[in-house]
Amino acid sequence: MAVHFYENTGVFKLDTPNSTMMLALTPEGYLGQVYYGRSLKDKDLTYLMRTDEPPFTPSVNERETMSFFDAFAWEYPTYGSGDYRDSAFRIRTKSGHEACVLKYDSYRIVKGKKVPDGLPGTFSDTANTLEITLKEPDLGFTVVISYGVFDDVDAITKSVKVINTGSETFFLERALSSVLNIESEKGLDMITLHGSWARERHICRREIPYGRSNTSSIRGESGHQDHPFIAVMDRDASETMGNVWAMSFIYSGNFLAQAEKNQFDCVRVMMGINPEGFLWRLAAGESFTCPETVCIFSSQGIGAMTRSFHDLFRTHLIRGKYRDMKRPILINNWEATYFDFNTEKLLQIARTAAGAGIEMLVMDDGWFGHRDSDNSSLGDWKVNEGKLGSTLKYLVDEVNKLGLKFGIWFEPEMISPDSDLYRQHPDWVIRTPYKKPGLSRCQLVLDITRKEVRDYAYESVKAVLQSANIEYVKWDMNRQLADIGSLGLDCETQGELFHRYVLALYEMQNRLITDFPDLLLENCSGGGARFDPGMLYFSPQIWCSDDTDAVERLMIQHGTAMIYPLSTIGAHVSVCPNHSVGRSTPFRTRGYVALFGTFGYELDISKLSEEELDIVREQTQMYHCYNDLIRRGDYYRISSYPDSNIDCVSVVAKDKSEAVAVMVRVMGVPNVHSLRLKLAGLDGNSSYRIDGDERTYTGAALMYAGINVAGLWGDFEGRIIHITRV
Ligand code: DGJ
Repeated sequence: MAVHFYENTGVFKLDTPNSTMMLALTPEGYLGQVYYGRSLKDKDLTYLMRTDEPPFTPSVNERETMSFFDAFAWEYPTYGSGDYRDSAFRIRTKSGHEACVLKYDSYRIVKGKKVPDGLPGTFSDTANTLEITLKEPDLGFTVVISYGVFDDVDAITKSVKVINTGSETFFLERALSSVLNIESEKGLDMITLHGSWARERHICRREIPYGRSNTSSIRGESGHQDHPFIAVMDRDASETMGNVWAMSFIYSGNFLAQAEKNQFDCVRVMMGINPEGFLWRLAAGESFTCPETVCIFSSQGIGAMTRSFHDLFRTHLIRGKYRDMKRPILINNWEATYFDFNTEKLLQIARTAAGAGIEMLVMDDGWFGHRDSDNSSLGDWKVNEGKLGSTLKYLVDEVNKLGLKFGIWFEPEMISPDSDLYRQHPDWVIRTPYKKPGLSRCQLVLDITRKEVRDYAYESVKAVLQSANIEYVKWDMNRQLADIGSLGLDCETQGELFHRYVLALYEMQNRLITDFPDLLLENCSGGGARFDPGMLYFSPQIWCSDDTDAVERLMIQHGTAMIYPLSTIGAHVSVCPNHSVGRSTPFRTRGYVALFGTFGYELDISKLSEEELDIVREQTQMYHCYNDLIRRGDYYRISSYPDSNIDCVSVVAKDKSEAVAVMVRVMGVPNVHSLRLKLAGLDGNSSYRIDGDERTYTGAALMYAGINVAGLWGDFEGRIIHITRV
C-alpha cells in the first residue's frame, strides 16, 4: 500500500515509485505539508514543520496565532484568518463574512483512482486514493481533498470537493485545486509556457522573486498566451539533474498558476480555477468539485519530469480507440485552399494524396451555410451543396473509393451574426443584457451553458456525421469569451458562467465520443489555444499551432512536449514560403519536424513537383517506420533552439532497443567541422548500429563521446538518425 496514515504522529505518507509526499496534523488539527521529494523510507519527518520553533502552534502560544498561520505550510490555505499569503480557498457567507479556517476531521484510503465527478481526470485501477476530510468548525461546511497516488508513474493528483453541510447558502469566491510549499537552499527558478497565436507555448524560465509571480487565463479557455502548467526547480536544476516540482491542470478554462515567495524564502505554488470571474453559489446540501491537478516530482531534472507527464497522460488520461494506435496520415485542405474549394478540387488533392501514401482527407472550414470567408454561417451546419457541387455523401464515397478516410471540420460553440441561427435566436449568445457584444473573427460565442443551445449545436454536428462515412472530426474554437453574461443565469449565478461553459463543452464532447466511439477527434482552437490536459481526456490529439513553419515549430513543439506526449501534438508539413512567417525551409526538414508529432500535410499536393512528391512518399514511409517508437517511447531534449543553433530531440524505446533523433541546424555556418552530436537515454552497455553506417557503437560511446554529423549545407538543414541495438 503506497498510502499510510500513522495515527500516533498524525502523518500521512504517500509514495510513488521514486517520490514521497508527507503531510501531517498539528496538535490543533491543522493539516500541513512536511515533505515532497525523493522517495524516503522514514515515517516521521514532522520536525520539518517547525512547530517547535517560535511562534509555536497556537495551542502552545496562543498570543501568536497569526504569526503561525502566516508561516505554516498549509495543505489548503484559507482566506481571512491570519495567513497573509494568497489563499487557495475563500468563501463569502450570506452575511458577507469571509474568514474561515479548516481543521482535520477524518480520512479514507481506497484502492483505485477515479475521475472526479463531471470533469476530466486521470484514472487507474492500481493507484490508491487518499481522501482527507477537513471541516470549518463554525460555519458547517466540509472540504474533501483527494489524492491519487500512482504506482507506475511519479505522479500524485489532487482535487478538492467542497460540500455545504450547513443550513445556509454561501458563495465560493476562490477554490483552487492544489498547493505545494517548496524550500531550497539553492534558490528556486520557475518554468511557465507563454506565447500568442502562431507562437504558442514558448518555454520561459526565470528566478522566482519575492512576492507573487503568476500565469493565468481569463479568456474562457486555457489560451495561446498562457498555459495551465508551472514547474519550480532548484536554481541549478538542468535537463538531467536537480529537483523539479511541477503542476499541470486538467481543465480547459480560466486558470491561475502562481508561485509566491514569502518573507522566509518559502515558495507557495498554487493552481486552480482563476478566482477572477468566478463566484459559485453553494446552497445547503450542494457540493462543488474543483478540477484535478497533477503534481510531479523529479530528482533527475526537467527531462525526467517531462517523461513522467508523458507516461501519465498516455496511460491514465487519454482514452478511446486511437489512444494507442497509429493515426492515419492526413491531408487537410486549409492552407491548400482556405475557403475556395469544391468537390472536384478536394478530389484532385485526394487522388494525388492516395498515390503518395496519405490515408485521410480532411475538409476544413467553409463547407456549410454560405461560408466563403470567415464572416458568416457559423451555427448553420447544413452542407453547401451548391458550393461543393455534390452532396457530402458523394464526396465522402469518392474519397473512400480512393482508399482514403474522410474527416471534417466544425466549430460547434460559435455563431455568426450573419446566420439563420442568429436571425432565429439572437438571445442564444454569451452577452450582457445592456451591451452589444463585441465580435472577434466576426463571430459570437453560443451560450452552451443553456441546455437547449448545446443540444441544438450537438445535434447539428451529429446529423452531419450520420449522413456519410466520416471518421475524423476537427473541433475548432476561434475566439475567446467576452461580454460575460447568460440569459439562463440569475444575478446570484452569473459568476458561474465561465465554469459552466467548460462543463457544457465537456458534456458535448462526451456525447460525441459516446455516440461515435470509433471517431478520431482532434481538438483545436485557432491553432493551439486549447491544448490542455482537459481536452486530451476527450481527444487523443490536438492541433498544436496554426504556424506550420519548421523553425517556429521547433520552439512550439519543444514547449508543448514539455508536458504532452508526441502522440498528441498535431503537426503537418506545409508549403513554402510558409504562410505564417514567409520563411522557406527544405521539404525534408519540414517532414522531420512533423514526424515528431501526429504527422500529416496541409498543402495542395496536386501542385507539388515530382521531386517533392518523391519526398512525400519517403516521408510517409518514414512515418510507418518510426511512428510506433515516437508514440510510445521516452522523449529526450538534447539541445533546443533558440538556446542553441542546433536543435535536437530523440525518442528511445522503453526497452532501449531502438532510438530515433531529429536534428536541425537552424542557420548555416561557414567554415565549420562536422557537427558533434551526443545522444541520450540509450543503454550504455549495449551495442547499436546507425542506419546507413556499417560501424557498431556502444550506447556509452553514442551518449558520452557522440558522433560526427557531416554534410550540412544551407540554412534549416535537418537529419533524422535511427539507431537499433545489435
Ligand atoms: C483555425 C484552425 O487552427 C485552422 O487550422 C483552421 O481550421 C481555421 N481555424 C479554419 O477557420
